[in-house]
Amino acid sequence: MNKSNKKLKLAIICSGGNSPGMNNAVIGFAKKCAQCNIDAYYFLWGYKGITNNDIHPCNLRYLEEFTNRGNTIIGSGRLPSFATDVNVRKKAVKNLKKNGIDCLLVVGGEGSYQGAYKLSQLGAKVIAIPATIDNDVNSTQYTIGFDTCLNQVSKLINDITDCFSSHDGINLIEIMGRACPDLTINTGIGSNIYMVTKYNILKTEDFIKIVKHCKSQGKRAINFVVTEKIYGTNNLPTLASIAKKIEATTGHMTRVTTIGYIQRGGTPSARDRLIANYLVDKAVDLAKQGVFNKAVGINNKQIVAIELKRAVTMKRKSHNRYLVNKFNKINLQ
Ligand code: F6P
Repeated sequence: MNKSNKKLKLAIICSGGNSPGMNNAVIGFAKKCAQCNIDAYYFLWGYKGITNNDIHPCNLRYLEEFTNRGNTIIGSGRLPSFATDVNVRKKAVKNLKKNGIDCLLVVGGEGSYQGAYKLSQLGAKVIAIPATIDNDVNSTQYTIGFDTCLNQVSKLINDITDCFSSHDGINLIEIMGRACPDLTINTGIGSNIYMVTKYNILKTEDFIKIVKHCKSQGKRAINFVVTEKIYGTNNLPTLASIAKKIEATTGHMTRVTTIGYIQRGGTPSARDRLIANYLVDKAVDLAKQGVFNKAVGINNKQIVAIELKRAVTMKRKSHNRYLVNKFNKINLQ
């Protein structure tokens, strides 16, 4: 019940790039609401669905069929005008009010958090839940989808290595993550691969030096994992042109593999399913208590909630630079 003793009415959206585990957040939400006698709704296609009033009651028996799917059955999306045009946001707030939604749960990444905060500034009540393969939400140490994506990338790299070890070859593997190097770093450390991130941008000569060193040690396949959106921008050469020069100089077949959207699909891992359920459980508990405009997340293995306003301005404490340097030295062995 809300303060006026009316039955509580909550809605959920998934926003931004899909990430495996979003379905589990939606299902967890629907189940928890059913258990707490809360009316549960979702809007299709993220913020766009709110502005178009594309609202639907949660049908638990339908939703739970998607427990093991890496998509989000309620759709997700990016709506740039939501960030830039206050009238778009006002329309969303109007639709939330019209539907009597007491609180909106936003499941998404950093951009979605900004959108949620802007909605709260217009009077909507919101709670943000972190979900993105990038792990780039500063207010949490973990985002739903990261683990599945990491497993997906690690598996693909096994397969790529099969090819390149057969040809004594070199592969520059570009990994998604936007500006955040977490996927690259966790892949690199876990799979013993040299990492190239914003902390250690290599020149073509540096790649060649590493290749020569590794070949002199008798290494067959040589992989580099490289965070996307570094090469081919800011006057840096493309990975394709670096690959050509490596091949021309060393005589070893050198190719680029862009893993791309494959890494954003796949059955959600047990960890992502579990964390999705913990986080929505916390979010619904907060809404039940009449506590809004929070960001839930994970800090030192605890489920926590902080002010959304603080969440969207937080800077990240990270050991990433240290990890890249330390494990790259190890990976050269
Ligand atoms: O945020 C998830 C993500 O997959 C990023 O890693 C990537 O840069 C981006 O989305 C790609 O999505 P889009 O094609 O929508 O920009």
